[in-house]
Amino acid sequence: MRVLLAGGAGYIGAHTAVALLEAGHDVLVVDDLSNSSAEAVARVEQLTGAKIPFLAADARDVDALTAFVRTHAPVDAVIHFAGLKAVGESVAEPVRYYDVNIGTSIAILKLMAAEGIPTIVFSSSATVYGAPETLPLSEESPTGIDLTNPYGKTKRMIEEILKDAAAADPALRAVSLRYFNPVGAHPSGRIGEDPAGVPNNLMPYVARVAVGALDRVGVFGDDYDTPDGTGQRDYIHVLDLAAGHVAALEHAREGYEIYNLGTGTPVTVLELIAAFERAAGKKIPREILPRRAGDVAASYCDPSKAQRELGWTATRTIDEACRDSWNWQSNNPNGYARA
Ligand code: NAD
Ligand code: UD1
Repeated sequence: MRVLLAGGAGYIGAHTAVALLEAGHDVLVVDDLSNSSAEAVARVEQLTGAKIPFLAADARDVDALTAFVRTHAPVDAVIHFAGLKAVGESVAEPVRYYDVNIGTSIAILKLMAAEGIPTIVFSSSATVYGAPETLPLSEESPTGIDLTNPYGKTKRMIEEILKDAAAADPALRAVSLRYFNPVGAHPSGRIGEDPAGVPNNLMPYVARVAVGALDRVGVFGDDYDTPDGTGQRDYIHVLDLAAGHVAALEHAREGYEIYNLGTGTPVTVLELIAAFERAAGKKIPREILPRRAGDVAASYCDPSKAQRELGWTATRTIDEACRDSWNWQSNNPNGYARA
């Protein structure tokens, strides 16, 4: 298959590009580089030996997308990673979040309809479940519960748009992948997560403390109803996540499907910090802080639908994710910019 990766220069997109190329597919990338670097695409080329057609453009620009796709026709599928993803920022700038996240999705669906591209795989998020009523979360679990931030709402809305589009066009194959917490990096240490500024998410924050760029990790609450009082999440190695995209593309059928991509194993904040300490061979300073607004005590999935229908299962452990994250962070202390 030849696959257009919208947002393919980003963290998950770059790792998915490697997985697709290794599985014998071709990729082309469109990315406006608003949260990434062209260096990531260059490194994917180095890792795989492939030449990747790259368009630096906003994925809302249907004309630019159309010209790009026609130059590289036939394109068989789109994986749609493009969008903004910072929860707090989405509360402060809701219109920008709706504009970019919904706008890129509409543009891609218009492109697909006009150019006869039948398959789309979309980066959704476990955030659509809001505060879980029961655990583990299955694809049947209710969504939209207590969705307090525009970021999560865009994911929920885009899922609805895909469902409606698939209902109206029997030839369309649309898949939403609800990622749990993506972590880790390519074991080569050449590509990894490179958040701008101070990271919002736990693993990149811990990695920056380990490398000495930040003083200590703030642990957001130790009074949750969990084994050690800290929040539990389902951390999935980005290589497992990338493999999930390959499986989703290869198994996509007409209609609309949703899959959870996670490990099914909850890990607490303190367990993750301990795993990172083992990986880095150093102590990670931490302090207990109040709970972060909007956080849930625990979130982890039942990944059995993806196993059953896609033949996919996450195989990597939190220790492997910490090892690979540390390898990436210690070899690229300044990310792609000044590595
Ligand atoms: P990322 O920011 O590294 O990747 C997103 C990419 O999209 C970036 O390269 C960015 O430059 C690009 N982009 C943004 N707006 C664009 C536009 N208008 N046109 C073209 N490109 C644009 O993020 P990621 O972690 O790789 O996430 C990929 C997708 O997965 C996102 O949609 C995100 O919401 C979703 N997701 C991520 C996580 C996570 O924890 N990383 C969890 C659940 C879902
Ligand atoms: C967050 C987002 C979610 C988004 C996901 C991936 C919120 C409320 N949720 O999920 O919508 O899909 O990122 O981008 O922002 N923690 C600390 N200290 C830190 C950072 C985090 O203790 O410095 C804790 C959190 O309280 C949580 C766990 O670590 O228990 C994981 O946090 P994080 O990595 O931010 O992911 P989520 O909150 O699950």
